[in-house]
Amino acid sequence: MAPRFVYAPAPESRAVVNLRPSYGLFIDGEFVEPIDGGQFKTENPSSQEVLAEVSSAGLADVDRAVRAARRAHEEVWGPMPGRERSKYIFRVARILQERSRELAVLESLDNGKPIKESRDVDVPLAAAHFFYYAGWADKLAYAGLGPGPKPLGVAGQVIPWNFPLLMAAWKLAPALATGNTCVLKPAETTPLSALLLAEILQQADLPAGVVNIITGAGDTGAALVAHPGLDKVTFTGSTEVGKQIQRRLAGTGRRLTLELGGKAANIVFEDAPLSQAVEGIVNGIFFNQGQVCCAGSRLLVQEPIAESVVEALKRRLETLRLGDPLDKNTDIGAINSSTQLDKIRALAASGEAEGAQRWSPSCTLPERGYWFPPTLFTGVVPAQRIAREEIFGPVLSVLTFRTPDEAVEKANNTTYGLSAGIWTEKGSRILHMAARLRAGVVWANTFNRFDPSSPFGGYRESGFGREGGRHGLEAYLEGSLDG
Ligand code: NAI
Ligand code: MG
Repeated sequence: MAPRFVYAPAPESRAVVNLRPSYGLFIDGEFVEPIDGGQFKTENPSSQEVLAEVSSAGLADVDRAVRAARRAHEEVWGPMPGRERSKYIFRVARILQERSRELAVLESLDNGKPIKESRDVDVPLAAAHFFYYAGWADKLAYAGLGPGPKPLGVAGQVIPWNFPLLMAAWKLAPALATGNTCVLKPAETTPLSALLLAEILQQADLPAGVVNIITGAGDTGAALVAHPGLDKVTFTGSTEVGKQIQRRLAGTGRRLTLELGGKAANIVFEDAPLSQAVEGIVNGIFFNQGQVCCAGSRLLVQEPIAESVVEALKRRLETLRLGDPLDKNTDIGAINSSTQLDKIRALAASGEAEGAQRWSPSCTLPERGYWFPPTLFTGVVPAQRIAREEIFGPVLSVLTFRTPDEAVEKANNTTYGLSAGIWTEKGSRILHMAARLRAGVVWANTFNRFDPSSPFGGYRESGFGREGGRHGLEAYLEGSLDG
């Protein structure tokens, strides 16, 4: 193997972030102490250092937040013309850009993701979502939902820890553009970027109560989604909790959007541009340590090239740099929590126990923090747990196929249906495959590509409803799209 470059450390400065020792709840435009909640700590998963104390919202706090959102909807945000709302949303987008470095460092500290990703993906995409939906706010009559589509009212939004700021943007931007007000609950392991976003909303002079951000764990989330004062609930997270929420909301008439797990197939045909495909496979499963709902966690590779693809993959994985998330050279950061690390370890162990061959590059894991090496399983068959269950970690299961039909059958052999990838030189094959894959998003000769103008969402156990694009407006407006 060619000699490897040695990279000198290139750490981003954490001095750009002003962490407060403790944070209140953001309700009705200000930070307040919880009435009946408590406090919890959020840590840096790459070092286990405690970053700050955060408030946990109890029932009375959730109620206070929903009431504030209701009042803001009735008195301020609902009646405001779209062209006025858009000014606030554009302002938020611009401040996100101005404070992007601070946001990126904070996101990497709290989540463990490499600064390269928070800086180049999470933060710019979050700003892009606010820009995109700000542009819709005064054009809703042209969204295909009738001449004067009405907002639903108050939205309760629960988000996960894998893309904390970006998920907040996915939820807030379309809700605000359409005239809804929000109560957002970030995940308990990654509350800090949402709390900085709250400061940004203050800086943007967003009227009080239009967005309320209440931190806390699953019980806070459960209290929020069950609150009778909501008109809309939207959730991104595990399929299990998604199902609980759906049961809870059945019969209430409240609108619901669910964005849940996935087990995407990334399908590589023998005529694919191979080095490009290898980069796409790596990006598909090792981006954000594989903690991505649409991750390409099942590689389906056509038999004649299977061996050479696996070899090329192994060579490429040897060059990935795992370590300090704040180092600009880092490719693979920390796993978000010890709970998630345990889940990844258990599923990887099941892969070995069920007979698949496990391989990882020769990398040393830091002593403190939650780490898992990039891992490849070959000899995987569809019945194994690693071929069926969402691992949500840097673990790729490699399966093979002979014909396009077999690829379709294997790809669709899952309870999920969020995303898929196709790698081939043939345009006709892309269309043939895309029409047959049961997945909400199908990428061709690329993977994990996101754009605010493009709808995102799943089938089956991956959930329902779409976020992003014109479709994303529908989730927050009365009426349904005319096509
Ligand atoms: P989770 O579904 O428990 O957490 C997601 C969010 O829901 C968090 O804000 C959490 O506080 C909240 N929550 C938890 N229980 C709730 C309840 N009963 N009612 C309302 N809100 C509730 O997911 P968790 O435990 O963090 O991860 C478990 C697995 O879920 C992961 O290993 C992964 O497979 C999957 N997952 C999928 C995500 C996606 O993007 N689709 C994101 C996060 C996790
Ligand atoms: Mg944390």
